[in-house]
Amino acid sequence: MSLVGDEEGGSGQGHGHAHADATGGVLTDIDHVGIAVYDLDAAVGWYRDMFGATVAHRERIESDGVEEALIKVADSYIQLLTPVTDTSPLAKFMERNGEGLHHVGYRVDDCAEVLESVKGAGARVVDEHPRTGSRGTTVAFLHPKTSFATLIELVQE
Ligand code: CO
Repeated sequence: MSLVGDEEGGSGQGHGHAHADATGGVLTDIDHVGIAVYDLDAAVGWYRDMFGATVAHRERIESDGVEEALIKVADSYIQLLTPVTDTSPLAKFMERNGEGLHHVGYRVDDCAEVLESVKGAGARVVDEHPRTGSRGTTVAFLHPKTSFATLIELVQE
């Protein structure tokens, strides 16, 4: 039996990217897990009481109508999120789904390049172009419709 030749195929990955990471393709890390909560202070307190975790960064992101508290875990974050306006997409999400997992942020080296790549490969997107996220990052969201009901955020530091 051959030990070479059959390693490709399968998942349909790869659109010409030459990234060195063979495990996640152009995804270099899990940047954060976004969790929707009604009461940000209560959620921060819970993570402190349960896990001894403290907030590394807190920011109100007016363009998204949210306030976030980031808890750093190794090189990634838990992003606790609460809406600050009734009309924000997060508020609408929570009207339907309540609290809980909201999105996952995947770190990439080049947000614009990956966004164009996934659009070309048929993924539906929320953001046609990269925009500024929290911590001065560059971000773009993929629509859950074509990604297994998962809202995906591409994050470039
Ligand atoms: Co996020």
